[in-house]
Amino acid sequence: PRLVVVISGRGRNLQAIIQAIESGDLNAQIELVISNRSDAPGMQIARMAGLNCVCIEPKGFKRRDDFDRAMGARIAAARPDWVVLAGYMRILSSAFVQRFDGKLVNIHPSLLPRYKGLNTHERVLSNGDTRHGASVHFVTPDLDDGPLIRQASIAVADDDTPETLADRLMADVEQRLYPAALGDLIAGTVRFYDGVVWRDGQIQ
Ligand code: GRF
Repeated sequence: PRLVVVISGRGRNLQAIIQAIESGDLNAQIELVISNRSDAPGMQIARMAGLNCVCIEPKGFKRRDDFDRAMGARIAAARPDWVVLAGYMRILSSAFVQRFDGKLVNIHPSLLPRYKGLNTHERVLSNGDTRHGASVHFVTPDLDDGPLIRQASIAVADDDTPETLADRLMADVEQRLYPAALGDLIAGTVRFYDGVVWRDGQIQ
């Protein structure tokens, strides 16, 4: 199976996917890494791994739709089975989402449907939650709203700050969860069907 990974930042989820492929845990290949920022540290990770990478910056485009169409064309040319958003920090147009409908997935650092959007770690702490987590989900036109594929959680510690919580969530949850969720998708044990997630023949 062919993956295109779309990033904006540090690329720790990308790194985990690369490692899962290299270790044989994930049967896939990364055809292309796309970033909307030329200074994304994750691009260095992609280059070090010898992957094809391209940066498309929004400033060259007048409208969001034009940018998304250009990015969509690059992605489509790589003929992906799965388009993997890994820390991509722009909102996607619904035309883009529809173009890759059913093969577009994202990781979000919260136990969705709680805490859509930004600053999830801060909000978990300010609400006094005892657990925090991450979710891999199909992307639909509404932000952080699509059907869930996999979630996992950790305990919040009394002395956690947004930074310690975010770092622990990344290392203990996100970097394991994304390769595992992609494994589910590739194995066909999760299906996107009329907006319902099917796992092992059951509606979840
Ligand atoms: C992760 O926390 C991810 O869940 C969120 O953005 C962050 C990206 O980190 N969407 P990285 O670029 O994978 O290091």
